[in-house]
Amino acid sequence: MNRLIARVQAAVDAAWKHESGLPEEASQMHGLMSMKVRHLLNNMCACPGTVYLEAGLWAGASLVAALAGNERNVRQAYGIDNWIDCSSGRGAKDLFARQRQQHLANYGNRLKVFDHDLFTFDVAKHIPEPVNVFYYDATHYRTTEGVLRFMDVLTDPCVIMVDDWQSYARYDVEAQWRKAESEGPCEVVKEWVLPSNKKDDAELWWCGFYVAILKRKQAAA
Ligand SMILES: C[S@@+](CC[C@H](N)C(=O)[O-])C[C@H]1O[C@@H](n2cnc3c(N)ncnc32)[C@H](O)[C@@H]1O
Repeated sequence: MNRLIARVQAAVDAAWKHESGLPEEASQMHGLMSMKVRHLLNNMCACPGTVYLEAGLWAGASLVAALAGNERNVRQAYGIDNWIDCSSGRGAKDLFARQRQQHLANYGNRLKVFDHDLFTFDVAKHIPEPVNVFYYDATHYRTTEGVLRFMDVLTDPCVIMVDDWQSYARYDVEAQWRKAESEGPCEVVKEWVLPSNKKDDAELWWCGFYVAILKRKQAAA
């Protein structure tokens, strides 16, 4: 566990300094995140054997940030979005397809993308490989429910990231995450709360960003 903690800490430290293996051309596309977040996503997938899951893809900038340049490290990647609960709607889906083709074509079948409502998605059927890095950036009104849907396919331990931690909107992501943590099968071993000074803070961590290492809760004796 100490090695994983040190690895996540190093990934966070490097992202603060805008250091990662993210290729320059893959870091420029329009997305709902800051440069620090892009580097962090990339660093989190830089460990050989990574199985990555992203819920909430929009136009693909975060998925590209996580995967581009990590072709040798990521064994399998999964993404899910229904592209209907978003201001840009299906236009974002078309953009996603183009970005995937431009930046992630090398992944082939190692990247599986599902156009589906995550709340009715058959997680166990479609995600056979245990996920060790999970990024939740889908609807934050239902963060608790959304995160809990994927808990059973996470490795033990695993890394989870959640965007919008400081919630400059009507929902309270931190409170929802705490609920997911208390109701779900996993507990937090260590967490990092990465700040923003305003909504969509391009200099810091956008709307605040959360990273945690989770492990399975022990069954009560
Ligand atoms: C904030 S955007 C994701 C931004 C993206 N990660 C980025 O950084 O560029 C949220 C995405 O979650 C998707 N989403 C919201 N509710 C969903 C649901 N119930 N099932 C699947 N996707 C959903 C939306 O369609 C939208 O594309």
